[in-house]
Amino acid sequence: MLEWWQERVVYQIYPRSFQDTNGDGIGDLQGIISRLDNLKDLGVGIIWLSPVYPSPNVDFGYDISDYQGIHPELGTMEDMDQLLAEAKKRDIRIVMDFVINHTSDQHPWFLQSQDRNSPYRDYYIWKSGRGRKPPNNWTGFFGGGTWEFHEQSGQYYLHLFAKNQPDLNYRNPRVLQEVKEIMRFWLRKGVAGFRCDVINILYKSSLADGRRALILTGSEHYLSQEGTHEILRTLRREVLDHYDCFTVGETVFVTPQTALDLMAPERKELDMIFSFAHMETDQYIVKWFKRKFHAGRFAKTISHWQNVLPWNANYFENHDQPRSVSRFGDDGVYWDKSAKLLCIMLLSLRGTPFIYQGQEIGMTNFDFTSMDQLADVESHNIYGIAKRLGFPPALRWRMIKATSRDNARTPLQWNSGPNAGFTTGRPWLGVNKNYEKINMEAQISDPTSIRSMYKKMIALRQTNDILKAGSFETLKISKDLFIYRRSLDGASLVILLNFSLTEKRAPWEGAVLLLSNYERQGYDGRLRPYEAVIVKEA
Ligand code: NOJ
Repeated sequence: MLEWWQERVVYQIYPRSFQDTNGDGIGDLQGIISRLDNLKDLGVGIIWLSPVYPSPNVDFGYDISDYQGIHPELGTMEDMDQLLAEAKKRDIRIVMDFVINHTSDQHPWFLQSQDRNSPYRDYYIWKSGRGRKPPNNWTGFFGGGTWEFHEQSGQYYLHLFAKNQPDLNYRNPRVLQEVKEIMRFWLRKGVAGFRCDVINILYKSSLADGRRALILTGSEHYLSQEGTHEILRTLRREVLDHYDCFTVGETVFVTPQTALDLMAPERKELDMIFSFAHMETDQYIVKWFKRKFHAGRFAKTISHWQNVLPWNANYFENHDQPRSVSRFGDDGVYWDKSAKLLCIMLLSLRGTPFIYQGQEIGMTNFDFTSMDQLADVESHNIYGIAKRLGFPPALRWRMIKATSRDNARTPLQWNSGPNAGFTTGRPWLGVNKNYEKINMEAQISDPTSIRSMYKKMIALRQTNDILKAGSFETLKISKDLFIYRRSLDGASLVILLNFSLTEKRAPWEGAVLLLSNYERQGYDGRLRPYEAVIVKEA
């Protein structure tokens, strides 16, 4: 028996870039409400809302200054209640983004904690330096050091992300108490769970120097520590188990084994996890050093996780990742076919599928031409570091352009009108020039569009128990081909994917065609460029 969150398809909304209704150039909650019918039509059963809380927007909502409020740019709490009610009417459940490793430096807790005598001092990780040096040698997720000196109180505070995102101190039981209250506040409002931001780094076991590493020196002191497991079990037992909800944790640097420790059902911690392994197959060590995409490597990693975890949270895109069609497919000649291949793959893997806004119309990376078009704090930090290291300007730019998180954050392309129908004002981030060709309106009424393929695949998955619940078996992985089987109660489907620009032979005995991203009558054993087929085995 599957849980409801295993049966439904999740759609991630990055609210700033979804739909603006008041002309300020920033998406808002009313915009989401106005598009609920569109999502219902697609077949979405759960929405994951990227942060909608008040935030100084250093990291666009991932730096929260009030966990129980709504950012005025996005609307009001009444709008939020209306969104929950309207979604409920359509049988769509809403999951909140839950960012509890750190707050904004403008959160009242942090403002108070700057006073050494405040009871809030211990909500964060403050420490004296070693002479003129910071307390330890750790390096952070956005590049550079992890300690910021605070003149007035004479100590440093820890921040694993931007300096405006101080880490909370989970050795202080009051912090966990606050977190429980925040969860209950949203659960009582009727949210269906939480996407838990960088959740496996909460508990810092020690603040000692880390082993020198190319990235994240010090991570051995906070990655998936027993203290974090304990926190997750407590939240589950004392809060989550009392509501009909689920959690999906964003987990950094997990292996299949450490992932299982966080999500195996008997552990009673998280329900699902997002891992990054498959997203790292086109990079060297860090994402800024791009490696040519190799479908075999991608498929091998996905297969491995499919085989080891009882249930996966499958995704190819989110607000931190460049667009999948530009990255794993072809955003040129085979844009349409390769976007559909990725769709067929995503929805035929075992696990809960997560679709990121715009993916369903094949939105591509943005054609940025200079740093001042980018808003992302990470891109600017890394660019600055590369500059200090003496990287030539052309190389720095190439690193950022292909990997910037802003590739996925440009406004959703609704139609071919001004600003792609996203806003009547000036969009906060540039609209991709290709909106006249790639937009929702053009695709929604076209039965052969990428969006129609998403709709069809979601409907197929909803009605096909093999796709929903069947086991996964890897059949073939080569440089360009990925073939796998899903089976349930003696019946099976085989999914054949050709990730190349040329035709490939892949004969399949007794195959009865169920679906392809090309027009075809039956399956003749030949896969055309970027063709994906699903066949039934006789
Ligand atoms: C992961 C989020 O997805 C990302 O957008 C954010 O910058 C970091 N966590 C820090 O919260």
